[in-house]
Amino acid sequence: MQALVAPRSRRPPGPRDGGLGFLRAAGAGSLLTYLGGLSERYGPVSSFRLGTQRIVFVDDARIVEEMLVTRQASFVRDRGATLLRELVGEGLLTTDDPQHVVRRRSMQPAFHRARVVRYAETIVRETERVMADWPGRPLDVGAEMARIALAAVGASLFGADLRGEATRVADVLARVLARGASLAAPLAFATPLLGPLHRLFPGRASVMFPRERAELDAIVAPIVRARRDADGDDLLSLLLSAREGGAALDEESVRNEVVMLILAGHETTANALTWTWYLLAAHPAALARVRAEIDDVLGERTPTFDDVPSLRYTARVFDEALRLYPPAGAFARRPLHDVELGGYAIPKMASVFVSPFVTQRNARYFADPLAFAPERWDAPPAERFAYFPFGGGSKTCIGEPFARLEAILAIATIAGRYVFERTDAEPIEPAAAALVRPGRPLTAYARRVRPYAGSVPPSRA
Ligand code: HEM
Repeated sequence: MQALVAPRSRRPPGPRDGGLGFLRAAGAGSLLTYLGGLSERYGPVSSFRLGTQRIVFVDDARIVEEMLVTRQASFVRDRGATLLRELVGEGLLTTDDPQHVVRRRSMQPAFHRARVVRYAETIVRETERVMADWPGRPLDVGAEMARIALAAVGASLFGADLRGEATRVADVLARVLARGASLAAPLAFATPLLGPLHRLFPGRASVMFPRERAELDAIVAPIVRARRDADGDDLLSLLLSAREGGAALDEESVRNEVVMLILAGHETTANALTWTWYLLAAHPAALARVRAEIDDVLGERTPTFDDVPSLRYTARVFDEALRLYPPAGAFARRPLHDVELGGYAIPKMASVFVSPFVTQRNARYFADPLAFAPERWDAPPAERFAYFPFGGGSKTCIGEPFARLEAILAIATIAGRYVFERTDAEPIEPAAAALVRPGRPLTAYARRVRPYAGSVPPSRA
């Protein structure tokens, strides 16, 4: 009689180099290129050993959906969250259930449609303020988009003017990213050391980025203090009045969330906008269509929330920019128990990477995948998770509605007044680390194409 034993599933194929290729790529900031190569060579599920760890890479829309949505209860955040926690502390972006669902519930109302509608005016005003001093000087477009995104997040979510802090925040972030890139791989071995280190320095919020965390706290603490003393109607007020398990959030928890939202909420959108301008500069026909749409919908006006549904081609341009250059290029989960993915056996606590950057450029899902073609969004892709720039499931980006609104309004506000003329025509490659940033600055002049007709006079900006 034949035994009714399920056939043991196989381990996914992959390199047998002890993780050397991965370590080298992570150190050189080319993690995504490496992951793309794994998929090409070994197929949709690949894996290798790194020390005692098993690292798995998944480049398959259905399995991504399983991990992020259908079987999400079997997965928790991976070590990237440990690194982030060092900077932003314990909070929505770094916890798992049961805490995650409680905090998400506290913060979600700030991102509901009714609130987001009110952010539109703020976003347009902040965009106008930043762009008022553009003419006549060469711009680092990425830095200008970061100024806009930071100002928009600060004013909309915290009622705070963060325009003057853009350089400080960018500087902290650059240092963290540089150190984070070199630490990410060793962290695969060193994570268990962080607990004892924290016990050794109990007063320190961060043992890896103490200076950077202190600098961010210096920006955020006065904003939180000011709001404690005066009522408001934004995300910060929600956090201050939230009750979790019957108790209010302590000062540090509120500060953690504000620091996290400032970082998660501005760097991503700023990169997406920068890539959008890069692509539009290289595709004059698409830029002309965006401008024609703006002329048609807005005429001389600046946009409002109600205009957004009519800016359909502009939205497709942004979707396509997010496909080719998704700001969150890769992220990872760990299974809580042994699981099977795509017919392969994945051990408990393996690091399982997914990559919007790699999957969204896969020819299995997108025809001519490297071409910039906003028209492809006239029909959505057949597989829902062939495109997941904002993740999915219970940990999907809470800021997606805000980011989309901000992007469309900023593109329409800017393109209604200026065209960017690049200072050189050389291609810019992405720094293909976990964050997809331009490998070198996109520099351009903003040439005015229409006399100023906005609501904020340039002299007040
Ligand atoms: C184009 C812009 C953005 C992109 C591409 C993006 C991408 C992502 C992705 C992929 C995740 C999921 C990560 C994971 O599952 O491990 C995420 C989570 C998150 N994002 Fe965004 N994001 C953007 C803008 C924003 C904005 C504007 C905010 C806030 C104002 C924000 C706040 C967050 C938060 C708080 C989380 C964690 C959510 C949770 O775990 O419940 N993001 N984002």
